[in-house]
Amino acid sequence: MKYGYFDQTNREYVIDRIDVPVSWTNYIGVKDMCGVFNHTAGGYLFYKSPEFHRVTRFRPNGVPMDRPGHYVYVRDDDTGDYWTLSWQPVGKSLDSAKYICRHGLSYIKYQCEYSGIWGEETLFIPLEDPAEIWDVKLRNHSDRKRRLSVFGYAEFSFHRIQSDNQNFQMSLYCAGSSFQDGVIETDLFYEAGGYQYFTADGGSDDSQYFDCLRDVFIGAYRTETNPIAVERGFCSGSSELGGNHCGALRRVVELEPGQEKRLIFLLGEGNRQAGKEMRSKYCAPGFSQADSAFKALGNFWNEKLEKLQISTPHDGMNAMINTWTLYQAEINVMFSRFASFIEVGGRTGLGYRDTSQDAMMVPHSNPKKSRSRLVELLKGLTSDGYGLHLFSPEWFEKQTEAAFKSPTVVPRPQKSDLIHGLNDACADDALWLIPSIVEFIRETGELSFAEEKFPYADTFDPETGGGTSETVFDHMKKILDFSAREIGPHGICKGLRADWNDCLNLGGGESAMVSFLHHWALVHFCALGRRLGKDISKYEGMMVKVRESCERELWNGSWYTRGFTSSGRAIGSPENKEGKVHMESNTWAVLSGAASPEHGKSAMDAVDEFLYTPYGLKLCDPAFSEPDDEVGFVTRVYKGLKENAAIFSHPNPWAWAAETMLGRGDRAMKFYDALCPYNQNDQIEVRKAEPYMYCQFVVGPDHSAFGRAHHPFMTGSAGWSYFAATRFMLGLRPDFDNLIVDPCIPSSWPSFNVRRVWRDAVYDITVENPKGVSKGVVECKVNGEPVKCNSKSAEIPVQSPGTKNHVTVVMG
Ligand code: NOJ
Repeated sequence: MKYGYFDQTNREYVIDRIDVPVSWTNYIGVKDMCGVFNHTAGGYLFYKSPEFHRVTRFRPNGVPMDRPGHYVYVRDDDTGDYWTLSWQPVGKSLDSAKYICRHGLSYIKYQCEYSGIWGEETLFIPLEDPAEIWDVKLRNHSDRKRRLSVFGYAEFSFHRIQSDNQNFQMSLYCAGSSFQDGVIETDLFYEAGGYQYFTADGGSDDSQYFDCLRDVFIGAYRTETNPIAVERGFCSGSSELGGNHCGALRRVVELEPGQEKRLIFLLGEGNRQAGKEMRSKYCAPGFSQADSAFKALGNFWNEKLEKLQISTPHDGMNAMINTWTLYQAEINVMFSRFASFIEVGGRTGLGYRDTSQDAMMVPHSNPKKSRSRLVELLKGLTSDGYGLHLFSPEWFEKQTEAAFKSPTVVPRPQKSDLIHGLNDACADDALWLIPSIVEFIRETGELSFAEEKFPYADTFDPETGGGTSETVFDHMKKILDFSAREIGPHGICKGLRADWNDCLNLGGGESAMVSFLHHWALVHFCALGRRLGKDISKYEGMMVKVRESCERELWNGSWYTRGFTSSGRAIGSPENKEGKVHMESNTWAVLSGAASPEHGKSAMDAVDEFLYTPYGLKLCDPAFSEPDDEVGFVTRVYKGLKENAAIFSHPNPWAWAAETMLGRGDRAMKFYDALCPYNQNDQIEVRKAEPYMYCQFVVGPDHSAFGRAHHPFMTGSAGWSYFAATRFMLGLRPDFDNLIVDPCIPSSWPSFNVRRVWRDAVYDITVENPKGVSKGVVECKVNGEPVKCNSKSAEIPVQSPGTKNHVTVVMG
């Protein structure tokens, strides 16, 4: 069963059957202001932080589903009938109304045809201004003149999620609203500069024009489905100091048959004056600034996407890589992982491991943000060499006068309390940063980044903004030394609080995943060290030792063991009844370069044999059923859910990459296809979630909901899918001085093309596969000239900025 389709030309996912089983979401905004909305305009807006600066309110995990939102109501003033341009909240019968939602790149269009009126609400945020534009169009398709009242409505929040959800004895009396000069202003009295506004073109001073009070607009014993103001046909001019506030504005629109009119509502950050300025800008006659802002947003995304475009025989891979997967990966980097309908602002900041991985995925399309994330992470590293698992970058910025005075006394922690100890360190966190830094340098060529100095989190002095600073290269050494030091009796890295798997809590036990990751980080670090001409002999030695320990202790004769508990029991090995085979150890054994080819092949065969399902690879098999605290929380999660043998999406691309390292392109594609959301577009009765987004996990076969996908958008799965598909399957890897071409594809592919922009030069690459192989490059020419090519891969030397280069590659 399907509910929509991929519109490749407009880069939109079009939901043309609107009653999708769960919320299908999208993000608007690319800088400081961001909105998360579903297919029926339910959702919320925030400025910089979803936890501390929530602009509009959201009632998560509730019924009716995912309310409130940013709604446009239309009322026929001749009949009293009313509806919304998004299907909900009024929810007209789908027998009489047609609704479409177009999820585009940082915008959403809600379209509706009902009772002879076509209407559209487009939500987007201009690149330059923290203001949300609601661009509304209405056209009369009937043969009679129509008199309509159009209401824009959103419910304001008290900024801080805590104030918004608890302690109403203060928050309800510290925020006020007022209407003047056509602008609704809410004032969070306790917060310096705490203002929001709602306004529209063509305002009026009439009291029927506005309501600032939610409960007056909605009415007692009513909901957003049937607000009294809409039912009655006008607002009542309400405002008050204290209470719950909303932006509600009513426009009167008359339409002759065939006539179309456009109006704009604006919801933004700042006070009345800011609202007036934005209104003059975006609502000037002809709305030309709104049009150019929308166009600029399109250009913003095109510029990113054009950095890498592919054309392969696989339509799904083309659609995902060319648009949706990069989009998802970018959104994760822009807003971190804590703004969605699942993470609704209770935690914010940066997760060390997640952010490190996210930053690695987009250095070509977002070098600025990748770099600033790397710097934030470097500052969140302790001088012991472990990262702060969850931290706010502001902790490591020079202290400024706090603007927020809580209305009740909430003790503020000392800075020193923010630096957690080894007990709370996750063994993998900081290791991810090393490849991310090296990949950033490979992409940008900015070798000098390695020599920049930053303080460590525990040495940082908030008063002066300084601290003991060392180079990026030194920070990397600290991380590698930490992992070399924190090993258990088998010489394998300790699992500590957790490794990548949040629910595997080995403590003093040992984690194969971390040792393999240590190896991977060492491979990257040594490559950089060699390029910089540094003495890296200590780390080359460390790498050999790690590899030897892994082969000696983790190869169990059939595949790679996942680790050891603190009492020395093996996990993920043939003698186990539950959790016998794990994804992380087997994929990372290969991906890290530590496994021998022979062992690597057997390990990945075990992955195929034990973990493959038609919806992707399970994290482990068989699922755990008995609580076992030496293994961790995973044993207390229901079978088939989350880390307990669900199809956890994030590690799936590790398997695609590992298979390409073994030269098995058909197997890599088999795994890619199983997880690919595009392939499930017509299986929504099973998948339920959006087919344009990877989800954190898909329910595994041990559970009755096998195949159902959960937690879209905010997951490292997109970044890793992008990384594995482009760098390993299509095989295009920037190196310090060369672009490496090393594809591993299905043997049935006759050819494919990639257009890659790298260091300001364009590479138009055509790869031919006349012999039907999966791997191997026998010839490569750049602008007709042969370049270095071994039987495995080719190396294209970096070309001058501004040049366009024609590259032909022959596999064989
Ligand atoms: C989600 C967390 O954000 C991530 O850090 C972790 O690696 C995965 N869950 C797996 O446990």
